[in-house]
Amino acid sequence: MPDIARIEHANVRREGKLILKDVSLSLSKGEHIAIVGPNGAGKSTLIDVISRHIYPLATDEYKSFLFGSEKWMRSELEKLIGLVSERNAIFLNTSYKVREIVCSGLYSSLGFDFHHQTKDEDWRKADEELMKVGLYDKRDRVMNTLSSGEKRRIMLARVNINKPKLLLLDEASAALDFPARASLRRLISTYTENSTIVMVTHELSEIIPEIKRVILMDGGRIVMDGNKEDVLTSENLSALFKEKVHVSCSDGIYTAYC
Ligand SMILES: Nc1ncnc2c1ncn2[C@@H]1O[C@H](COP(=O)(O)OP(=O)(O)O)[C@@H](O)[C@H]1O
Ligand SMILES: [Mg+2]
Repeated sequence: MPDIARIEHANVRREGKLILKDVSLSLSKGEHIAIVGPNGAGKSTLIDVISRHIYPLATDEYKSFLFGSEKWMRSELEKLIGLVSERNAIFLNTSYKVREIVCSGLYSSLGFDFHHQTKDEDWRKADEELMKVGLYDKRDRVMNTLSSGEKRRIMLARVNINKPKLLLLDEASAALDFPARASLRRLISTYTENSTIVMVTHELSEIIPEIKRVILMDGGRIVMDGNKEDVLTSENLSALFKEKVHVSCSDGIYTAYC
């Protein structure tokens, strides 16, 4: 039994159409993976299935194990799984202070509902995470005054305050300029020590060197799953994106262009 996740035969239907088709996936501890595919491939849907934000069709074949168990309370999973995605982008443009955003991750909530519960220890943990992402000096700044790169770092600090076993990053560095993306990539690498990372991207340069396994998705299906060097080839990506794609690799970082 893989210790992080095992999904078997997941199908998701929306508006009469299968948007995830018979997807199976096993993930062991420390086996960091990237999921790559064009827009609409079903990547975010798969992330939502893994994190149980959505449930696939209840067929006889469908099974989902997380950390070795089938049954989980949503509140327990909030601590074990850290998710950075469009879903929680709402936190990026609020008038809460940076330190409050990070601290509230401990309670999976935001606003006054968490304030009355906080202990000194919680604020200390928030400061520790802010130091790791290099933004301790901005802890009292209002969230919506930060740059896009800084906001992503804060989101990472917010989810990592729980020391999640599984870290799901769904296009976490989308729309960042390339130095900010490289800097975020280096930061994400530091989380591989304690968390297993699943990274969704269509920007190959986001893929951290610690990721050795890559999954290609298209049309709601997994079309390839294997070693990074075998999967990320010009031939495979050209077939996936239906365009002539050139893939190259330098110092363990991949790039692609059309
Ligand atoms: N709630 C929904 N209702 C209808 N269609 C949806 C819904 N969620 C996703 N889809 C569709 O399913 C497909 C896969 O979506 P998504 O998983 O977000 O793709 P990706 O993250 O790879 O871009 C897309 O065509 C999208 O429009
Ligand atoms: Mg998506």
